[in-house]
Amino acid sequence: MANRRLAPAAEQPESFAFTPDNAEWAQGQIAKYPEGRQASAVIPLLWKAQEQNGGWLPRAAIEAVADQLGMPHIRVLEVATFYTMFALEPVGRYWIQVCGTVPCDSCGSRELKAMLHERLGPPGHVSPDGTFSWLEVECLGACCNAPMAQINHDYFEDLTPESLGRLMDDLAAGRPVKVGSQTGRTSSEPQGAVNTLQDPSLFDGSRIGAWRKRFENGGEGEAANDEAASSEQRAASDPKPARPDAGRAVERPVTDAPAQRVAEGETPVKPEDRADAADGGRSTAQHGEARPTVRAEPSERVAADEPAAAEAGAQSALKRDEPPPQPAASGASEGEIAAEAEESRIEAKLAELPKDASPEQKADAVGTRPTGLDAARAGQPDALTRIKGIGPGNERRLHALGIYHFDQIAAWTRDEIAWVGTYLAFPGRIDREDWVGQARALTKSLSR
Ligand code: FES
Repeated sequence: MANRRLAPAAEQPESFAFTPDNAEWAQGQIAKYPEGRQASAVIPLLWKAQEQNGGWLPRAAIEAVADQLGMPHIRVLEVATFYTMFALEPVGRYWIQVCGTVPCDSCGSRELKAMLHERLGPPGHVSPDGTFSWLEVECLGACCNAPMAQINHDYFEDLTPESLGRLMDDLAAGRPVKVGSQTGRTSSEPQGAVNTLQDPSLFDGSRIGAWRKRFENGGEGEAANDEAASSEQRAASDPKPARPDAGRAVERPVTDAPAQRVAEGETPVKPEDRADAADGGRSTAQHGEARPTVRAEPSERVAADEPAAAEAGAQSALKRDEPPPQPAASGASEGEIAAEAEESRIEAKLAELPKDASPEQKADAVGTRPTGLDAARAGQPDALTRIKGIGPGNERRLHALGIYHFDQIAAWTRDEIAWVGTYLAFPGRIDREDWVGQARALTKSLSR
C-alpha cells in the first residue's frame, strides 16, 4: 500500500473552483441530503473535483470542497487521504491501480507490480510522456478474476505481465482494448470446466419443492397463512439461530432428560436404559445403533486395547490410516432430518400423480387417512391451536377430517402423519413441529 501524501507544494495549484457546470452539478448532489447533512456529499464532490483537475486532487480542491460543505479542512483531508480512488498527486493519462490484496497477490499481482516498476518506475511516478502512472491499491472487489487492475474507470482482469503490457501498448497507441477478463471468461464464470453445483436437484425444485409449491399454490393459501402465523408464533416463543447452525455450539433442550421426566412425573430412567446399563452398555438401542462400552479408567481402556485418552463413545474401530467418519448432517436435529426424508419420499410419490390431483388423491397416494369422529366428544373439541404449528385455519381443516382431540393426534401412525401432512399441503412439517409429541403431552396434562 502506497503512502497517502499530498503532492509537493511545487505541484499544487494556487486555487481551485468548480466550473459553472460542475458547480451546478455539485449543488444537485448537496440538495439530495437534508438540511444539516450536507457533509454527506463529500465523496461525490471530491470525485468531481478530481475529474475536473485532470485526475488528481490538489490541496486547494480539498479545502474548497470543505468550505462549500461547511466542514473542517482536516475532515475532508481525512476522507481524501483514506480512499485510494482519490489520487493526491498528478497521474498519467492512464492511471493504473493494481490490486495487491491477498487473492490477487496469490494469483500473480507481484509480477504485475514488478513489470510496472520496470516499465514506469516507482508507484506514483508519471511516465515521461505523461501517458501512464500506477499505484498499488487494496481489494477492488474483482477477486474472482484475480489478478486485476483498474485503469481509469475500467477493470482489467485475469492479467499476466504480458497481457497487461499489451494492454498498455494498445492504450498508448490509441487502439481499442477489451475490458474485463483478458483470458476470455465471461464475468466470474469458473476457469476451465464447471465442477460445482452440477446436481440437477439443486435447480429443479425437488429439494425445496414442497415448501415453494405450498406458497405458490393459491388454493392452499390457508395452509400458507397458518404456516406464517405459526412461524411467527414459534419465533416469538422459542427463538433460535437460523439454520444451518453448523460450526456453532448450539444448545438444544433434551426432550427426555431425567430431570424433565421427573418434572413430568415419570421415572427418571427409561426401562430400556436400565437394560442397557445392566448389560454393560452392550445392548442395542431401539433404533438399532450399537452403544459403545464406556470404560472410565485409562488402565481399563488400555487393558481392553483402547487408547487411554479416548473420549467415551468416540473411539472407533478405524485403522490409523482411515479417514475419520464425518458427521451425517450439519446442525440438523433428528426431527428435521426425519422431516426432510419424509418430504423427499412424498415428493417422489407425488411426482407420479397427474398435476390436477386433488388433495385427497395426493394424500391417499402417500399414506392412510386417520379415522375421524363424526363430532367432538361431548360437543367439546380440544383447543388444537395449543399445538404449535396448528393455527385456526388448520384447526378448521382438521375438524373437517373429524380430528377434534389431542389424543387422536397423539395416536397417529407414520402413514397417518404422511396422509394428513400431504392433505394439508405441508409434508414433513408435522414431524418438524412434532405435533404428535405435543399432542401426547397435552393429552397427559388433560388426564391429570
Ligand atoms: S483481492 Fe484483488 S480484487 Fe479483491
